[in-house]
Amino acid sequence: MPLVTSAEMFKKAYHGGYAVGAFNVNNMEIVQGITEACQEQKAPVILQVSKGARAYANHTYLVKMVEAAVIECPDVPIALHLDHGSDFEICKSCIDGGFTSVMFDGSAMPYEDNIKVAKQVVEYAHAHGVVVEAELGQLAGVEDDVVAEDHSYTDPAQVEDFVTKTGVDSLAIAIGTSHGAYKFKPGQKPQLRFDILEEVSRRLPEFPIVLHGSSSVPQEFVKKVNEYGGKMPDAIGIPEEMLREAAKGAVCKINIDSDIRLAITAAIREHFVKHPEDFDPRAYLKPARQAVKDMVAHKLVNVLGCNGKA
Ligand code: G3H
Ligand code: 13P
Ligand code: ZN
Repeated sequence: MPLVTSAEMFKKAYHGGYAVGAFNVNNMEIVQGITEACQEQKAPVILQVSKGARAYANHTYLVKMVEAAVIECPDVPIALHLDHGSDFEICKSCIDGGFTSVMFDGSAMPYEDNIKVAKQVVEYAHAHGVVVEAELGQLAGVEDDVVAEDHSYTDPAQVEDFVTKTGVDSLAIAIGTSHGAYKFKPGQKPQLRFDILEEVSRRLPEFPIVLHGSSSVPQEFVKKVNEYGGKMPDAIGIPEEMLREAAKGAVCKINIDSDIRLAITAAIREHFVKHPEDFDPRAYLKPARQAVKDMVAHKLVNVLGCNGKA
């Protein structure tokens, strides 16, 4: 099947009590690892591309690799999504360039400006058969090399007004998740504001909610990275059971990037320590790709619950 939007995926996920994984892609091995797992698990998937990914790998290479995955994984609905589009121009460029979904992230803007640009993106996107995600509230963490120290949780009182005025198809909210591999301080009890999620879903019935910053930072990867020469002390993620809980309700899209980075880094570090003589990139990228595939398969089945839903 050709690339699809996330509209149908979200409708099914909302009513089916599961979420679709949105995984960031930056190179061929990542695209292959994710989509091979989805093909085997018969899971719908969103492949998402950040501004940094476009700068690294080039828009056309990324689109063509995703199109190749569509051919190689015929049983799986795949959406191609722009992650954290910062202005109308980048959203337009991705809509014109073959994406089926874009995020306009105006979460750092004044509320009225966020509405204004989101509405402009929606008008252009919908006229081209593309869906739009926007964000209210701000996540702490690292994004495009900018570090935001504090959360500003989504105010549920704003969500109906925002969605009505903009016409967006899904909404990312801030309930305590954050970008990167250091989501909680050592000793701090991981907590999410499920009360905010509940109030948002009460105000927006049947509306798909998105969680960014939802890597679990599996400790086996952190351990391996540190054991084989890396330095990632106290890397902590969102507990899997919290994500599973969110996926049962209105959360239809869960964003995962850091766990991919960790899986790859742990595998490559281990390979180099065990095989210092290797210099063929295929020798160490193969286990790295396999590590991505295994990690994604685990998420599909045990966290997102979207296996068998393609
Ligand atoms: O939300 C941010 C994603 O992890 C993308 O990160 O901008 O470094 O590609 P990036
Ligand atoms: P993580 O850093 O938790 O993987 O979040 C990724 C993300 O939100 C991409 O938009
Ligand atoms: Zn994000």
